[in-house]
Amino acid sequence: MRSSTIHNLLIFVVLTYPIASTAFSCPFTAKWNVSIISVVPNDLVVQIKSGDDDLGNHTIPFVGKYSWSFCDMLGDHILFYGYFWWGSKFQSLYLFNEAISNKFFSDVDIEHCYWFVKPEGFYVNNIPSGGGKFIKGWD
Ligand SMILES: *[C@@H]1O[C@H](CO)[C@@H](O)[C@H](O)[C@H]1NC(C)=O
Ligand SMILES: *[C@@H]1O[C@H](CO)[C@@H](O)[C@H](O)[C@H]1NC(C)=O
Repeated sequence: MRSSTIHNLLIFVVLTYPIASTAFSCPFTAKWNVSIISVVPNDLVVQIKSGDDDLGNHTIPFVGKYSWSFCDMLGDHILFYGYFWWGSKFQSLYLFNEAISNKFFSDVDIEHCYWFVKPEGFYVNNIPSGGGKFIKGWD
């Protein structure tokens, strides 16, 4: 293996390790937990991406949930976005960016951000309640 390949592999392991594990802490920055909750009948498919990282396709059943955690990086604008498929409908949107981070940061152990995907569109909240702010409809 060329050393640059090993280097890339190491970076991959370091970047993906926190996402796969629930027991880790962020010593210097906030730890965020983002959840996507499906409130649409039938399966919802979501593909989540961040830069070159692809968290892959996830099928979420009605009232099912997919969540992941990460350490916020100071100064570095960490960004997650998602592509959503529901039957014949599609939408793409930012799931975590600076605006969301600023809106929901509350200085607790784990910062939460909950997305609710409904037949009429996408809502975001900092508590696991179906209310929250309407962000976007379906395309
Ligand atoms: C993810 O799912 C969508 C919709 O079913 C599909 O179009 C896309 O090719 C899938 N992507 C991957 C990487 O499997
Ligand atoms: C995120 O928080 C939810 C509770 O709202 C919890 O069920 C889930 O396990 C957490 N996910 C991770 C990856 O920490």
